[in-house]
Amino acid sequence: MIKTTAKGTKIFTVSSSAAPEIRAVAELIRAGELVAFPTETVYGLGAHALRADAVAKIFAAKERPADNPLIIHIYDLRQLKTLAADIPEEAWQLAHHFWPGPLTLILRKKAQVPDLVTGGLDSVAIRMPNHTLALALLQQADVPVAAPSANLSGRPSPTTADHVLTDLDGRIAAVLDGGPCSVGVESTVLDIRQGEPKILRPGGVTPEEISAVLRRPCSLVHWLPQSEDAPPSPGLKYLHYAPRAPLYLLTGAPERQIKKMQELLQNFQAEGKRVGLLVSQESAGKFSGAEIIVLGSRRRPDQLAAGLFAALRSFDEKQVDVILAEGYSKKGVGLAVMNRLQKAAGPRVINVGGDE
Ligand code: TXA
Ligand code: MG
Repeated sequence: MIKTTAKGTKIFTVSSSAAPEIRAVAELIRAGELVAFPTETVYGLGAHALRADAVAKIFAAKERPADNPLIIHIYDLRQLKTLAADIPEEAWQLAHHFWPGPLTLILRKKAQVPDLVTGGLDSVAIRMPNHTLALALLQQADVPVAAPSANLSGRPSPTTADHVLTDLDGRIAAVLDGGPCSVGVESTVLDIRQGEPKILRPGGVTPEEISAVLRRPCSLVHWLPQSEDAPPSPGLKYLHYAPRAPLYLLTGAPERQIKKMQELLQNFQAEGKRVGLLVSQESAGKFSGAEIIVLGSRRRPDQLAAGLFAALRSFDEKQVDVILAEGYSKKGVGLAVMNRLQKAAGPRVINVGGDE
């Protein structure tokens, strides 16, 4: 089914990778147009990765800083060698194990990758998404596809076609609507070029899983905006995942978090503010009189991840003045959930003591 919005963006709604509409979307990519498409993590904003004119449109549509590089999406391992040089054995091991899936590998770039894609770096980010529609689209386009998350720069990543249109309607040629994304947070970005493998952004694949495959430690890079060194990944410099209202993130023992949240809720309400609460199933019953969004069980980080960005966006719609969010354990994909919540909170993190 095809519809066109009042601002001129085409919506192709498909439910199977055999749908004939995918061919039309693939043709748009080949022609140098921008197309948003679903992946297992979040929706991506795709363009022909080897055409600088097409890639330039991504930065314009998203209002993305030019030094923040893009991930190239592939559907076949054979494409890897055409984009990256000096590929270490461990990169092949990880690709065989985790692809298609939410892992992005940072490798040395080959000359045919435009500098615009890599923000002028000599490295390139590559992944193979685990989504049947994305794979069908990549296969039919049959070119590498550069795709950042399909949101305006700084906003929460989109996990539905509606989210994409909220930010980019009229700025892109088309969106392929394949329903909501399953993982809900972006891919893990891993630098595997030399030394100990370093996670530049935690995501859908956990450090524990990577260590288990490589049989050696894999650590998360820490970099603070105050640092005088260049960030290991340019994306670390920029504001991210920000809902419109300020978000306060609580961390520490769950019972203490609940007490503190009740206290903050009362204080903000006394000031006449509309408060949004982002909580787990276990804590939801402890609150009333606020806009409450329940993400899932605190013991199921996959549930927390799947609903996180949609929740941040729906607080925008509910026009709350302030958001209070519960913090969770960093086990498994909980690490990525806490990373996104911390970025959304910026300096507004309140530690109440004790373990999550
Ligand atoms: O799950 C995902 O990764 C989604 C879907 C669409 O695939 N894409 C995504 O792209 O999240 P984006 O552009 O929103 O985030 C890419 C991140 C940025 O933080 C960027 O700085 C980093 O990857 N990155 C890209 N190329 C890099 C490079 N050569 N070196 C270091 N970091 C890089
Ligand atoms: Mg992004």
